[in-house]
Amino acid sequence: MKVAIIGGGPAGLYAAILLKKQRPQAEITVHERNRADDTFGFGVVFSDATLDNFEKYDPPSYRRITQEFAYWDDIAVHFRGTVHRVGGNGFCGCSRRMLLLILQERARELGVTLLFETDVDDESRFADADLVVLADGINSRFRDKYVDHFRPEVDLRSNKFAWMGSTRPLDAFTFIFQETEWGPFIAHAYQYEAGRSTWIFETDAATFRRAGLEGLSERQSADRMAEIFGWFLDGHPLLTNRSMWRNFPMIRSQRWVKDNMVLLGDAKATAHFSIGSGTKLAMEDAIALAEAMAQAPTVAVALDTYENGRREEVEKTQHAADVSLVWFEHVDRFWDFDPVQFAFGVMTRAKAITYDNLTLRAPDFVGEVDKAFARQVRAMGFDADVDKPVAPMFQPFKLRDMEIANRAVLSPMCMYSANEGVPGDFHLVHYGSRAIGGAGLIFTEMTCVGRDARITPGCTGLWNDEQQAAWRRIVDFVHANSAAKICLQLGHAGRKGATRLMWEGMDRPLERGGWDTVSASAIPYFPDSQVPREMDRADMDRVRDEFVAAAERGEACGFDMLELHCAHGYLLASFVSPLTNQRTDEYGGSLGNRLRYPLEIFAAMRAAWPAHRPMSVRISATDWAEGGITGDDAVAVARAFGEAGVDLVDVSTGQTVRDAQPVYGRMFQTPFSEQVRNEARVATMCVGNITTSDQVNTILAAGRADLVALGRPHLVDPAFTTRAAAWYGASDIACPAPYLPGKEQIFRNSMRDRQDFEDLKIKGKPKTRAELKAEATKPLAAE
Ligand SMILES: Cc1cc2nc3c(=O)[nH]c(=O)nc-3n(C[C@H](O)[C@H](O)[C@H](O)COP(=O)(O)OP(=O)(O)OC[C@H]3O[C@@H](n4cnc5c(N)ncnc54)[C@H](O)[C@@H]3O)c2cc1C
Ligand SMILES: Cc1cc2nc3c(=O)[nH]c(=O)nc-3n(C[C@H](O)[C@H](O)[C@H](O)COP(=O)(O)O)c2cc1C
Repeated sequence: MKVAIIGGGPAGLYAAILLKKQRPQAEITVHERNRADDTFGFGVVFSDATLDNFEKYDPPSYRRITQEFAYWDDIAVHFRGTVHRVGGNGFCGCSRRMLLLILQERARELGVTLLFETDVDDESRFADADLVVLADGINSRFRDKYVDHFRPEVDLRSNKFAWMGSTRPLDAFTFIFQETEWGPFIAHAYQYEAGRSTWIFETDAATFRRAGLEGLSERQSADRMAEIFGWFLDGHPLLTNRSMWRNFPMIRSQRWVKDNMVLLGDAKATAHFSIGSGTKLAMEDAIALAEAMAQAPTVAVALDTYENGRREEVEKTQHAADVSLVWFEHVDRFWDFDPVQFAFGVMTRAKAITYDNLTLRAPDFVGEVDKAFARQVRAMGFDADVDKPVAPMFQPFKLRDMEIANRAVLSPMCMYSANEGVPGDFHLVHYGSRAIGGAGLIFTEMTCVGRDARITPGCTGLWNDEQQAAWRRIVDFVHANSAAKICLQLGHAGRKGATRLMWEGMDRPLERGGWDTVSASAIPYFPDSQVPREMDRADMDRVRDEFVAAAERGEACGFDMLELHCAHGYLLASFVSPLTNQRTDEYGGSLGNRLRYPLEIFAAMRAAWPAHRPMSVRISATDWAEGGITGDDAVAVARAFGEAGVDLVDVSTGQTVRDAQPVYGRMFQTPFSEQVRNEARVATMCVGNITTSDQVNTILAAGRADLVALGRPHLVDPAFTTRAAAWYGASDIACPAPYLPGKEQIFRNSMRDRQDFEDLKIKGKPKTRAELKAEATKPLAAE
């Protein structure tokens, strides 16, 4: 077998090593345009898990690599004169040059041919090769040559960054967030060998310009960075090596294989440097390719296996990198945060690290985070215990005069079980048991303001006395038997009206018994859905008055709070999104115009609703569709409602158009809540695939939302909040007297279970290489 590898970076060399081990007879050649010891960049980083992989696949190179490594366990966050350190991270750094020399030596030892100073410009010279590996890096000539086949998407990110080095020793992976007269600068730094550290500097484009970095030489820009970070560099110089400022290209290729050619490493996909995964991904690609080649009968099958088997893992890493890079791009959102909360945000930015996980690793740090949170709660006027604070989920919150005992919320969830809009016994038990279950705030399902405002024949309404009496019974029950507050969500289905019950075909038109629908524009949801009538002014007045009348009935029922539903493609959302609003009057066109009608309704309801009771608005912060609402629009929407007197923005997403492309995942809508909260400076509630109290605490402690709503988790577990309170020892959680023995039991058991769980986690956790090395080098006298 003949294998031609273009590019002698980590991907190309490691692929050569693994393939040669597998097929000693194969003729494997690496073509590299640089000289053998030419290398750009400084150090590379690997996690302990990645090193475990290297150990498994090629022990000799693993041993040599790890002899050269610098290990560290801590991440240190420097911000506004403070430093917070968190241990237990298990990372290692090594010089990129040394890594390449080790891999070259190992490849040679195995009999791979390495050709340096060989710039390949045409792969047809490898016509006799069975396999051609395109490991030619981020600017891959061959990916570009077959651009129509590989179909790469290149997303050039807005921040500027440059790799540099220093002799400054570091004992932790160090993030420095530095305020300057021009704006914020960030340094990501780590040591990779004795006396050598990598420094990646990052800033936004405007700060870059203001700081006069445009047009400076490599040396001049390094000098400017040395001035900014001089207080930390401690007299050590900054070193350069092609340290030009650039914008990070996030690359995703739709195809990785063409005939017998395969893209590996940066050539196929990149991951932002803030998660330190570029070299890891490159080498793990090589592992995946070698695995596929070992098992498949032909090269074609192997390449297919490689692409299909590896894609998900790469995309997962890229997703984590995306989330992380977005955090760094928007660091100004958090710039006025308490430094410990800021550091918590840095640590938890990419989902993998959470509140509970940090509690195990760095209990003192989380203790400080809890205290900072408790101080904010005190500033709101609560008598929160700052010395021994409860977890953020169990801290109270206040909107106007309404106080809620904790931050867990039952999300509005249609039950499709009403009869002519009247909530029945099912609803009483449903809302009642969730209120007793401990949630601080209960939202009703979307309750419709008129008969023809309903989504389905099973939706609840509030347009007549019978419905009002039924809701009054539910509200009274909640108030009499729990500490929960209850919020009425009012809505109008718009073009999604006259559709079937969820379990009979969500959003599908009713076959019989439907009614006429209205919307911002006459556009059906599905092609075969009913075509709604474009609302005229008379319709708008009528519907506005229905909202006001329902709000007044809501007050009479005793609801504590009122929410206007402007999300999910229903009537008011259809005005907000340009995808569903094509009006040419003053209610269409600009975002300001599209918001006019929802704001008119909000203002009319606000005037009717008692001033001391809060109001919220639910929005779809993105349509997940080309040309639709984006996070930036959501900030503008939130500001407009904020000016109109909204107290809380309930940040959901999507469901505007049927061909949307949502990116699902854990807590997938939370980034929008974070953006709205910290840019528009309004209180937010986030929702969407939040399933654990650990996630709730992580979101709250990092300042990504003020309240957290859970929908589906509450459907199966009415006592979600009480269970979580037992886990975190938040014993103040309300409980009806007849249930107290159950509460006592779960608190007793949970405290024990939690202790067992933590012991198990700590005992079961393998030692990091940094810990092992520290133990091995500890002087005997210290034992
Ligand atoms: C300037 C720079 C500095 C960096 N510094 C660091 C760092 O300090 N730490 C870190 O972890 N990551 C660093 N990275 C990122 C990291 O290098 C990559 O994520 C990782 O090296 C990817 O490995 P790779 O093998 O896919 O690509 P590369 O390492 O880029 O290797 C590709 C190789 O292909 C060769 N090549 C390209 N075209 C041809 C051709 N036509 N013919 C022959 N040879 C060709 C190139 O010379 C190169 O050696 C840096 C990246 C850049 C651009
Ligand atoms: C069956 C069902 C009914 C829903 N009804 C409503 C509703 O009436 N009003 C609303 O704003 N959102 C509604 N939603 C959306 C939920 O409030 C919530 O945003 C969504 O389920 C995501 O949260 P989760 O992952 O915690 O379930 C509904 C969702 C489901 C699954």
